[in-house]
This record gives sequence, C-alpha cells and structure tokens, in this order.
Amino acid sequence: MKNYFLALGRYPNLSLAELQGQLDVIFYNEENQYLIAENLEFKNPRDLPRPPEQLFLDSLGGTMFMGETLKECESYNDLKDFIQDLVVNEAVSKIGFCTFGVGKNFLPKLIGETKDFSREKDHKLRIENFKSASLSSGQIFERRLTQKGLVLGIAQEGNQFLVSKIIANQNLRNYELRDRKKNFRDAKMGMLPPKLAQILINLSHPDHKDTIIDPFCGSATVNIEAAIAGFKTQGSDINEHFVTKSRENFDQMSEKFRYEKSTGTFETQDVTKIDWKAASGIIATEGWLGENFEQTPSVDQIKANKAAVLNIWRQVFLNLKDSNIRSVAFCLPCWNVKSRKFSISQELISDINAAGFELKKFPNQDTSFIYERETTFVAREILVAQKVA
Ligand SMILES: C[S@@+](CC[C@H](N)C(=O)[O-])C[C@H]1O[C@@H](n2cnc3c(N)ncnc32)[C@H](O)[C@@H]1O
Repeated sequence: MKNYFLALGRYPNLSLAELQGQLDVIFYNEENQYLIAENLEFKNPRDLPRPPEQLFLDSLGGTMFMGETLKECESYNDLKDFIQDLVVNEAVSKIGFCTFGVGKNFLPKLIGETKDFSREKDHKLRIENFKSASLSSGQIFERRLTQKGLVLGIAQEGNQFLVSKIIANQNLRNYELRDRKKNFRDAKMGMLPPKLAQILINLSHPDHKDTIIDPFCGSATVNIEAAIAGFKTQGSDINEHFVTKSRENFDQMSEKFRYEKSTGTFETQDVTKIDWKAASGIIATEGWLGENFEQTPSVDQIKANKAAVLNIWRQVFLNLKDSNIRSVAFCLPCWNVKSRKFSISQELISDINAAGFELKKFPNQDTSFIYERETTFVAREILVAQKVA
C-alpha cells in the first residue's frame, strides 16, 4: 500500500481538520507542518482528465503539495547514497529539495555533495534550490518542477530521514484566477480566499449528492469552489446587487473551470427569513463579519457588531431546527482590540445545541479555530455544527 507525504499550509491544525475522513493519518508533525497518510480517498466527480493525486490536491485548500514516500533512511549517509543512486539510475537532470525539520547546514551540505558526486560521475545535473534554500510550493509551480524534474521532500525525525517524491502541487495560477481575476470583487465586503472556501466545504464533509448552500454568498466564492468540486450549489444574500454579481462571477468562472452554469442558483434573501424545511445538504459560509472597520474600532463599536452578528446566527439556528441540513461550517467575527479578545462563539453554543446540532472538535480539541491575518482588525473564528444523529 502506498504512503503519502502531505505538506500542510500555515494553519496545520486546520489543514488536518480539512483532511479528516479523507485519509488515515500515520504520522503528523504540527511544528514542521506535514503529515504522512494512507488510504487516501480519491474522487473524480466531474470525470476530469487529471491524475487522481492532483485532483485530490486541487480539492484541498490547506495542503500545499503531496508526494509518494520512497524511503526511510537511517542516517545522513544512507540518505545521501539513496539520492545519488536515484540521480544516476533514473538519469535525473534536474532536481530540487523541500526540507522539513532539518538543521541550518543540512541542505547546503547535501547540495554540495550531490553536485560533487554528479561532477565525478560526469552526470549533468541542475539543482533548483536557489542559495541552497528549501523550495517553496510557489517555486515548484512556477518552474513546473514536478513535470520537468524530480522534487524530493525530505523530513527529518531524530536521526532518520523520510524521502518522498513530490507528485502534485497547488495550482497557484488557478487560485489567482478565482481570486483576483473575478469580474466582481468588493474589498469593503471582505475577501474570502478561495482556499478558505474549499476548507469550509471540506470541513462540513459533504456527500457527493449534497447541495452546498451559502446564505451569505457575497461574490459567490464558496459557490464557485463548490461547483469546481462537482457539487450543486445555492447562494443567497440580503444585498440584491451582490446576488446579481454572484451570478455573473459564477458564470464567468464556469467557462474557465468548465462546470455547468445550471449547477448554481442565486437569489436575494435575508438569511433570518429562510425557511430551511425544503432545503437539504450542507451550509458552508463565511457569514457576515459585521462592519468592516478601517480604523481600530472602539469597544462600544465591537459590542454593537457582536450583538448584531449574534442575533442573526441565533435566528438562523432557530430556523434550522427540524431541517434536513446536516452540517454548517461557518465563520464568526472575532476582534482582538486593546489586548482584549471579543468572540461570539460561547454565546451561540446553547442556540446551536437547541437546534439539534453540536460543535465538531478540531485536532487541538477546541470547538473553533481562529484564522487571522495581521492586516485586519477582525479575525474569523471557524466552527462546524453537525446535526446530532
Ligand atoms: C463577508 S461577506 C461574504 C463574502 C463572501 N464570502 C465572498 O467571498 O464574497 C458577508 C455577506 O453577508 C451579507 N449579509 C449580511 N447580512 C445578511 C443577512 N441578514 N442575510 C443575508 N445576507 C446578509 C452581506 O451582504 C455580505 O455579502
């Protein structure tokens, strides 16, 4: 059975949560942001002509690249010999390394010795690590290194080294297209990164027949990711203009990513007035994060926003009682101002439970995950409410 190496994004616990149910974890290293897994669940709902590993990676927002594990080496010398044999036996002309948990001098030494070796053997070899630094996912993508050469992931645990061959990498151009190249974007509304939209969808564990619903759709980021992943999707928003623009964005991206426009429907609707009885599937949404502050908000401003957002979600969960919605992956705003943290989640738990849902635990055993960027006053607190069976 094959084992796989997955390089996780900058929130490894969130990446791990996204992967739960899609593979069996053999080993997880939070500090060095990677995991080793087996039994990956490859899906291809849209019959796309791409390798299963690449399709798997493309469906994930929190994994940077992945590889097949090749060998566990017992020492540095064992590793060096393995790489040298590989270069010669497989006539490798271009190689690059991504390292995890190694010391500062590891890569310059390995690169120097690999160069010396290929010179001695008269074997032409180009090493792609600029200034002997570990390759990033961006460099692998831009230089098409998995297609044009060999990229090895090397992870050190104690004196041992695990070597993997990188076989799939994030397609950064496609993310850029879905993010910055959308016809309609509104900085004031807030920009949900497509990767986080994918994570929200995966956290709610949809079945392939599920409809992915975003009742705060804004510019349709979640709906576009849902359609690309092969789901039917519904979007609604209280703002009619955003609904029109969501439809346009969804149709624009349908041409680039070849999904049917008919897989998405959009309507103007206040989320607190939705009758969920007729709906089924899962909700994946960024939600409303309150006012978008351009300057540090005052405590009173935060309290007012907190109350407004809380009221909306209380009503949503009240309405979700007795519905066929199985799971709700959503974000609540969380403010970090003047060394005080203002979060809403604790105050919503009783409403979530009263509606027949319970909060899922993240790998660190918390029931929410804070996703924050230094440049904004508001962070997103991610929660997943699952219907109690
Ligand atoms: C943070 S934005 C969502 C952005 C969206 N995730 C995207 O990527 O474009 C929040 C959205 O919630 C909508 N909204 C606020 N209150 C609402 C309500 N009561 N019912 C439905 N939508 C609401 C706003 O119009 C806004 O589009």
